Amino acid sequence: MFRQQEMHAMFPTSVAVFYLKDHEPLNRGLLAKVDDLRLDKTTGQKAGPTEFGVSWQSESNLHELKEFEGLVKCIHGAVDDVLAELEVEYESYVITECWANMNIRGVSHPTHSHPNSYLSGVYYAKAPENCGRIVFRDPRPQTAIIFAKPKRMNDFNVNQIKLAPQEGMLIVFPSWLQHFVQPNQSDEERLSISFNMMFKGELGMQLARTRY
Ligand SMILES: [Fe+2]
Repeated sequence: MFRQQEMHAMFPTSVAVFYLKDHEPLNRGLLAKVDDLRLDKTTGQKAGPTEFGVSWQSESNLHELKEFEGLVKCIHGAVDDVLAELEVEYESYVITECWANMNIRGVSHPTHSHPNSYLSGVYYAKAPENCGRIVFRDPRPQTAIIFAKPKRMNDFNVNQIKLAPQEGMLIVFPSWLQHFVQPNQSDEERLSISFNMMFKGELGMQLARTRY
């Protein structure tokens, strides 16, 4: 009936996942520093998330701390790879923000995106089993008008994609992509380190690609 058949994946969304080699010593250092950041030196009290509350978040300058140098190096390596894969040109880029998020049992994080950034990401320093998946939402709201019943779920017939965190896992995604975090169902804390990255210099323009 057909001479040829093609399925074009148009406007795909890139979510890159990296697994760090030898992440355990790195995570130990990150956990120790975050523990220190939570401590109020005058009162001796530790700041943290409250049960059924929202995540605890640190200040957003962690990329400037020497204890985060190792992680920042990995973030640069991952971002360089993603930008190469996306085949975009840029003069340079900077990590603009980097912060820690801690969730205890029952704590989730609502849907959000990361404004004023090109790429964002998250690294898992502590991710016990069932600590809550990160869920990316289909960025095309029009697709929610109608759903067919999938025979088998694939990237063309779902409107959310969930990833289970693992210690040493680094995810890099477009900053505009909405996502949320499911409640931590473990008795242990979940600690992630998020970051935003932005270009310096000239940006591009809207482009159309001719396939035929
Ligand atoms: Fe986020």
